[in-house]
Amino acid sequence: MLDEFIIKRQSEFPFASGDLSKLLRDISLAAKIIHREVNKAGLVDILGVTDNTNVHGETVKKLDEFANTQLLNALQVSGKCCGIASEEEEDFVVVDNEVSKEAKYVVLFDPLDGSSNIDVNVSIGTIFSIYRRVSESGPCRLSDLLQKGAKQVAAGYIIYGSSTMMVYSTGHGVNGFTLDPSIGEFCLSHPNIRIPEFAKTYSINQGQFLLLADGLKQYINYCQETDAATGRPYSMRYIGSFVADFHRNLINGGIFIYPASTKNPEGKLRLLYECNPLAYIAEQAGGKATTGQERILDIEPLTLHQRTPIYIGSAGMVQQAEAFLNPTAE
Ligand code: AHG
Ligand code: MN
Ligand code: MN
Repeated sequence: MLDEFIIKRQSEFPFASGDLSKLLRDISLAAKIIHREVNKAGLVDILGVTDNTNVHGETVKKLDEFANTQLLNALQVSGKCCGIASEEEEDFVVVDNEVSKEAKYVVLFDPLDGSSNIDVNVSIGTIFSIYRRVSESGPCRLSDLLQKGAKQVAAGYIIYGSSTMMVYSTGHGVNGFTLDPSIGEFCLSHPNIRIPEFAKTYSINQGQFLLLADGLKQYINYCQETDAATGRPYSMRYIGSFVADFHRNLINGGIFIYPASTKNPEGKLRLLYECNPLAYIAEQAGGKATTGQERILDIEPLTLHQRTPIYIGSAGMVQQAEAFLNPTAE
């Protein structure tokens, strides 16, 4: 079970204080609560109470607001986290209660990823990223949160799919846990996940084809050509929830691309809440994540909500896509 696994892993590191383990447990508890609400979403819709006000005249929280609040609450009382940044919050949150203000860690998250898929019963997720603070003491500062992804000490996601899974890494490989709803526990179901180096799936919003750079258009054409030796044409799979698209490709192999386009020159996905944590998982599983030019985890962030193009997944496929983008590079 997840708790036992976290404790066992921690005991392998003699100097670990247990703070990171506590944080991971707190995040997994918030995830169970989000899982419960996600599974009721259809019923709530049927009863018509997802509109803006309920019988008390209060605003009914949308699921992404609900998820945001659950995570904020869990981390604020955890005592192990001095600062939080969320995709749903404009500014970062300083956790300055007595037990937390000297805590060592900061946590960043996308509380509900793929939220446009909630109402149509398609997989969604939660993504989280944990860093050690860089300031020595006192209230958390912006610089504690603006660290490059290579500095993450742990990252992961929860996918609310045909089953709910938590997949995370503390820098020693990637493990996946499936929630057994009958006992309310995450159980180790996918130990030591490795992503295949090559596979036959590419994932991109191809509706944007005409807005893409020529090199990327050529890569997409390459994916569609017939070639028995490489198994082309590849299959195109695109759910529209980054977590779900990433998870499928992590297990089966494949490349996910959210590129720069003439519409979104910086891409769409957020570096701190989406790209860094999944890039960390990809690398820990033997995969690769780049902007098409540079490693995602090496980007020095300038602002909390900055975006980046991303090419992520099977190492060989990401390299191949990069070769199309940068034809003069070696
Ligand atoms: P979020 O729901 O957190 O705002 O993220 C949505 C993202 C991501 O999950 C997905 O990969 C992407 O939006 C899909 O965007 P397009 O509809 O532009 O393809
Ligand atoms: Mn998202
Ligand atoms: Mn989101």
